[in-house]
Amino acid sequence: MDLQLSGKKAIVTGGSVGIGKATARELAKEGVDVVICARREDVLKQAAEELSAESGRRIVPIVADTTSAESVSGMVRRALDELGGIDILVNNAAAPGGLVLGPLDESEDVDLLSDIDTKVVGYFRCAKAVAPHMRARGWGRIINIGGLAARNAGTFSGLRNAALVHLTKTLSNQLGAHGINVNLVHPGATITERTSAEAASAPLGNDIGRMVDAAEIGYVVAFLASPKSTAIAGEVVAAGGGVGSAVYQ
Ligand SMILES: NC(=O)c1ccc[n+]([C@@H]2O[C@H](COP(=O)([O-])OP(=O)(O)OC[C@H]3O[C@@H](n4cnc5c(N)ncnc54)[C@H](OP(=O)(O)O)[C@@H]3O)[C@@H](O)[C@H]2O)c1
Repeated sequence: MDLQLSGKKAIVTGGSVGIGKATARELAKEGVDVVICARREDVLKQAAEELSAESGRRIVPIVADTTSAESVSGMVRRALDELGGIDILVNNAAAPGGLVLGPLDESEDVDLLSDIDTKVVGYFRCAKAVAPHMRARGWGRIINIGGLAARNAGTFSGLRNAALVHLTKTLSNQLGAHGINVNLVHPGATITERTSAEAASAPLGNDIGRMVDAAEIGYVVAFLASPKSTAIAGEVVAAGGGVGSAVYQ
């Protein structure tokens, strides 16, 4: 299937490593020019050089912190200057797992607020900054990267992924009529540069029996970013290889 992505322009937040980098790579392989943003400039520049050499596409590194509305709007302005437009936003920047992983007595409100600031309000800031430009073009795709912790109690940080379900549907509700589809992808435990070889090859209790690779999240995002995904709006796509046995209707 031709995803009809060639020539489109994207922003991938947290695109310097991990799932964000893998997603930027898959988009670039489909012919998309990509702005990647993150806070650490050296890592970001290195990723841009690598992805651009691999794909032959424009990969533009822009340092930004998604916890600051000013930083986000500056990044989007520069992305528009560099690429000439924005068709796709992949909201991904956040600490995997989050900061509040322990029992209640050892958990701090400031850490939970920081998780929400980065992952929920950070995604909101980026969506708010790109939406006027997508609306003006009458087309756009916003893909939020959540996490399957949304569906399993265990860590307080998991609640940020549940909040993204609401954010995604509300954005879809408000933007869908302007040709902008908004969807949420929930990865499960995913292989990135940080995963040890031992963990990556260990059998996992999901339906496919192994961890999903970051590139495989990138394939899902590339489809949702494409014009072929119009029928899917405001939805949650679990991308953990079939975690758990709950039946969602
Ligand atoms: N890996 C998994 O198993 C897994 C499972 C479920 C969900 N997820 C979700 O998938 C997303 C990516 O996870 P990952 O494993 O790829 O994480 P990662 O390897 O730690 O990468 C996170 C990226 O986000 C950037 N970032 C973090 N905070 C930022 C901020 N405030 N402003 C701008 N950039 C920021 C980081 O760069 P800087 O630090 O330089 O800013 C980096 O580029 C996260 O939303 C995570 O919760 C991951």
